[in-house]
Amino acid sequence: MNSTLPLFLATRNRHKTREIQTMLGEGVVVRDATEIPELPEIEETGMTFEANAKLKAEGISKHISGFVLADDSGLEVDALGGEPGIYSARYAGPGCTDVQNTELVLKKMEGVPQERRTGRFRCVLAVARDGKTMATFDGTVEGRLTAEITGEGGFGYDPIFIPEGYQKSFGELPAELKNSMSHRGRALEQFREWFVKNNSQG
Ligand code: IMP
Repeated sequence: MNSTLPLFLATRNRHKTREIQTMLGEGVVVRDATEIPELPEIEETGMTFEANAKLKAEGISKHISGFVLADDSGLEVDALGGEPGIYSARYAGPGCTDVQNTELVLKKMEGVPQERRTGRFRCVLAVARDGKTMATFDGTVEGRLTAEITGEGGFGYDPIFIPEGYQKSFGELPAELKNSMSHRGRALEQFREWFVKNNSQG
Protein backbone atom coordinates (compact mmCIF):
# COMPACT_ATOMS: atom_id res chain seq x y z
CA MET A 1 0.00 0.00 0.00
CA ASN A 2 1.60 3.30 -1.00
CA SER A 3 -0.16 5.89 1.18
CA THR A 4 -1.74 5.68 4.60
CA LEU A 5 -5.32 4.40 4.64
CA PRO A 6 -7.66 4.93 7.60
CA LEU A 7 -9.68 2.02 8.96
CA PHE A 8 -12.09 1.98 11.91
CA LEU A 9 -12.53 -1.24 13.90
CA ALA A 10 -15.89 -1.89 15.55
CA THR A 11 -14.35 -3.32 18.72
CA ARG A 12 -13.31 -2.39 22.22
CA ASN A 13 -11.04 -5.45 22.39
CA ARG A 14 -7.54 -3.96 22.30
CA HIS A 15 -6.01 -7.42 21.67
CA LYS A 16 -7.91 -7.72 18.39
CA THR A 17 -6.96 -4.18 17.42
CA ARG A 18 -3.28 -4.83 18.14
CA GLU A 19 -3.25 -8.03 16.06
CA ILE A 20 -5.11 -6.40 13.16
CA GLN A 21 -2.88 -3.28 13.18
CA THR A 22 0.26 -5.46 13.24
CA MET A 23 -0.97 -7.65 10.37
CA LEU A 24 -2.12 -4.74 8.17
CA GLY A 25 1.17 -2.88 8.72
CA GLU A 26 2.03 0.80 8.67
CA GLY A 27 0.10 1.52 5.46
CA VAL A 28 -3.16 1.35 7.39
CA VAL A 29 -3.93 3.50 10.43
CA VAL A 30 -6.33 1.60 12.65
CA ARG A 31 -8.62 3.27 15.19
CA ASP A 32 -11.16 1.51 17.37
CA ALA A 33 -14.19 2.10 19.58
CA THR A 34 -12.07 2.59 22.73
CA GLU A 35 -11.31 6.08 21.32
CA ILE A 36 -15.00 7.04 21.12
CA PRO A 37 -16.78 6.08 24.36
CA GLU A 38 -20.14 7.47 23.16
CA LEU A 39 -20.42 4.87 20.37
CA PRO A 40 -23.30 2.47 21.09
CA GLU A 41 -22.69 -1.03 22.41
CA ILE A 42 -23.92 -3.35 19.63
CA GLU A 43 -25.74 -6.37 21.01
CA GLU A 44 -24.55 -9.63 19.45
CA THR A 45 -27.97 -11.16 18.86
CA GLY A 46 -27.00 -13.15 15.74
CA MET A 47 -26.71 -16.95 15.77
CA THR A 48 -23.57 -17.10 13.61
CA PHE A 49 -20.16 -15.40 13.55
CA GLU A 50 -21.14 -13.84 10.22
CA ALA A 51 -24.42 -12.40 11.51
CA ASN A 52 -22.69 -10.86 14.54
CA ALA A 53 -19.81 -9.44 12.50
CA LYS A 54 -22.33 -7.77 10.18
CA LEU A 55 -24.38 -6.40 13.10
CA LYS A 56 -21.27 -4.78 14.59
CA ALA A 57 -19.89 -3.40 11.30
CA GLU A 58 -23.26 -2.03 10.16
CA GLY A 59 -24.20 -0.62 13.59
CA ILE A 60 -20.94 1.28 14.05
CA SER A 61 -20.70 2.43 10.42
CA LYS A 62 -23.86 4.50 10.95
CA HIS A 63 -21.78 6.70 13.30
CA ILE A 64 -18.34 6.68 11.63
CA SER A 65 -17.46 7.81 8.12
CA GLY A 66 -15.44 5.55 5.83
CA PHE A 67 -14.95 1.79 6.05
CA VAL A 68 -15.71 0.05 9.34
CA LEU A 69 -14.36 -3.45 9.94
CA ALA A 70 -15.80 -5.84 12.54
CA ASP A 71 -14.39 -9.17 13.70
CA ASP A 72 -16.52 -11.88 15.24
CA SER A 73 -14.52 -14.85 16.31
CA GLY A 74 -14.30 -17.71 18.73
CA LEU A 75 -13.30 -21.23 19.60
CA GLU A 76 -15.27 -24.33 18.54
CA VAL A 77 -14.55 -27.51 20.52
CA ASP A 78 -15.79 -30.75 18.92
CA ALA A 79 -16.19 -32.66 22.21
CA LEU A 80 -18.41 -29.79 23.48
CA GLY A 81 -20.67 -29.86 20.41
CA GLY A 82 -19.05 -26.71 18.96
CA GLU A 83 -19.12 -24.67 22.19
CA PRO A 84 -18.17 -22.02 23.16
CA GLY A 85 -18.62 -20.84 19.53
CA ILE A 86 -20.40 -17.50 19.23
CA TYR A 87 -20.51 -17.35 23.05
CA SER A 88 -16.69 -17.44 23.34
CA ALA A 89 -16.36 -13.98 24.90
CA ARG A 90 -19.09 -14.61 27.51
CA TYR A 91 -18.89 -18.40 28.03
CA ALA A 92 -18.47 -18.21 31.82
CA GLY A 93 -21.20 -15.54 32.10
CA PRO A 94 -21.68 -11.82 31.47
CA GLY A 95 -18.60 -9.72 32.29
CA CYS A 96 -16.37 -12.79 32.79
CA THR A 97 -12.62 -12.76 32.18
CA ASP A 98 -10.55 -14.68 29.60
CA VAL A 99 -9.12 -16.80 32.43
CA GLN A 100 -12.61 -17.77 33.68
CA ASN A 101 -13.66 -18.76 30.15
CA THR A 102 -10.50 -20.79 29.60
CA GLU A 103 -10.84 -22.57 32.95
CA LEU A 104 -14.47 -23.45 32.18
CA VAL A 105 -13.49 -25.06 28.85
CA LEU A 106 -10.71 -27.05 30.57
CA LYS A 107 -13.11 -28.17 33.30
CA LYS A 108 -15.72 -29.36 30.78
CA MET A 109 -12.97 -31.18 28.90
CA GLU A 110 -11.67 -33.05 31.96
CA GLY A 111 -11.22 -36.73 31.11
CA VAL A 112 -11.57 -36.21 27.33
CA PRO A 113 -8.73 -38.19 25.73
CA GLN A 114 -6.09 -36.55 23.53
CA GLU A 115 -7.55 -37.83 20.23
CA ARG A 116 -10.93 -36.24 20.96
CA ARG A 117 -9.59 -32.84 22.04
CA THR A 118 -9.96 -31.36 18.54
CA GLY A 119 -11.29 -27.91 17.70
CA ARG A 120 -10.72 -24.74 15.74
CA PHE A 121 -10.65 -20.98 15.95
CA ARG A 122 -12.94 -19.22 13.51
CA CYS A 123 -13.06 -15.58 12.48
CA VAL A 124 -15.49 -13.72 10.26
CA LEU A 125 -14.70 -10.16 9.24
CA ALA A 126 -17.40 -7.83 7.90
CA VAL A 127 -16.68 -4.49 6.28
CA ALA A 128 -19.46 -1.90 6.15
CA ARG A 129 -20.05 1.69 5.12
CA ASP A 130 -23.06 3.90 5.91
CA GLY A 131 -24.90 1.04 7.61
CA LYS A 132 -24.47 -1.52 4.81
CA THR A 133 -22.20 -4.58 4.67
CA MET A 134 -19.98 -4.49 1.59
CA ALA A 135 -18.14 -7.81 2.02
CA THR A 136 -17.35 -10.60 4.49
CA PHE A 137 -14.26 -12.81 4.82
CA ASP A 138 -13.64 -15.89 6.94
CA GLY A 139 -10.66 -17.76 8.29
CA THR A 140 -10.19 -20.96 10.30
CA VAL A 141 -7.28 -22.65 12.05
CA GLU A 142 -7.65 -26.27 13.14
CA GLY A 143 -5.97 -27.59 16.27
CA ARG A 144 -6.39 -29.33 19.62
CA LEU A 145 -6.98 -28.37 23.20
CA THR A 146 -4.30 -28.66 25.90
CA ALA A 147 -5.07 -30.15 29.33
CA GLU A 148 -3.83 -27.02 31.13
CA ILE A 149 -3.04 -23.34 30.63
CA THR A 150 0.28 -22.92 28.81
CA GLY A 151 2.29 -19.77 28.07
CA GLU A 152 1.52 -16.11 28.62
CA GLY A 153 1.30 -14.74 25.08
CA GLY A 154 -1.78 -13.87 23.02
CA PHE A 155 -5.21 -13.49 24.60
CA GLY A 156 -8.48 -15.34 25.16
CA TYR A 157 -8.18 -19.09 24.60
CA ASP A 158 -4.64 -18.89 23.12
CA PRO A 159 -3.01 -20.63 26.14
CA ILE A 160 -5.14 -23.78 25.63
CA PHE A 161 -5.03 -24.09 21.82
CA ILE A 162 -2.28 -25.90 19.87
CA PRO A 163 -2.50 -25.26 16.11
CA GLU A 164 -2.25 -28.26 13.78
CA GLY A 165 1.36 -29.17 12.97
CA TYR A 166 2.78 -27.67 16.20
CA GLN A 167 3.51 -28.90 19.72
CA LYS A 168 3.10 -25.54 21.46
CA SER A 169 0.02 -23.41 22.12
CA PHE A 170 -0.71 -19.95 20.71
CA GLY A 171 0.09 -18.75 24.25
CA GLU A 172 3.65 -20.05 23.81
CA LEU A 173 4.33 -19.47 20.10
CA PRO A 174 5.65 -16.06 18.92
CA ALA A 175 2.97 -13.54 17.92
CA GLU A 176 4.25 -13.35 14.31
CA LEU A 177 3.87 -17.11 13.94
CA LYS A 178 0.32 -17.01 15.32
CA ASN A 179 -0.57 -14.13 12.98
CA SER A 180 0.82 -15.97 9.94
CA MET A 181 -1.56 -18.94 10.36
CA SER A 182 -4.39 -17.80 12.62
CA HIS A 183 -8.09 -17.60 11.77
CA ARG A 184 -7.81 -13.80 11.98
CA GLY A 185 -4.64 -13.72 9.88
CA ARG A 186 -6.30 -15.79 7.15
CA ALA A 187 -9.45 -13.67 7.05
CA LEU A 188 -7.41 -10.48 7.15
CA GLU A 189 -5.29 -11.54 4.17
CA GLN A 190 -8.48 -11.62 2.06
CA PHE A 191 -9.73 -8.35 3.55
CA ARG A 192 -6.43 -6.60 2.80
CA GLU A 193 -6.73 -7.45 -0.90
CA TRP A 194 -10.32 -6.15 -0.98
CA PHE A 195 -9.37 -3.01 0.95
CA VAL A 196 -6.53 -2.04 -1.38
CA LYS A 197 -8.69 -2.62 -4.45
CA ASN A 198 -11.66 -0.66 -3.10
CA ASN A 199 -9.57 2.26 -1.87
CA SER A 200 -7.76 2.56 -5.20
CA GLN A 201 -11.13 2.76 -6.95
CA GLY A 202 -11.93 5.80 -4.73
P1 IMP B 1 -16.15 -11.49 20.04
O1 IMP B 1 -15.51 -10.20 20.50
O2 IMP B 1 -17.59 -11.60 20.35
O3 IMP B 1 -15.80 -11.80 18.62
O4 IMP B 1 -15.50 -12.61 20.95
C1 IMP B 1 -14.32 -13.22 20.59
C2 IMP B 1 -13.85 -14.11 21.73
O5 IMP B 1 -13.34 -15.32 21.15
C3 IMP B 1 -12.68 -13.48 22.49
O6 IMP B 1 -13.08 -12.80 23.64
C4 IMP B 1 -11.83 -14.70 22.84
O7 IMP B 1 -12.32 -15.27 23.99
C5 IMP B 1 -12.09 -15.65 21.67
N1 IMP B 1 -11.06 -15.45 20.62
C6 IMP B 1 -11.24 -14.88 19.39
N2 IMP B 1 -10.09 -14.85 18.71
C7 IMP B 1 -9.16 -15.37 19.53
C8 IMP B 1 -7.77 -15.57 19.38
O8 IMP B 1 -7.12 -15.21 18.38
N3 IMP B 1 -7.16 -16.16 20.42
C9 IMP B 1 -7.81 -16.55 21.55
N4 IMP B 1 -9.11 -16.36 21.75
C10 IMP B 1 -9.78 -15.77 20.74
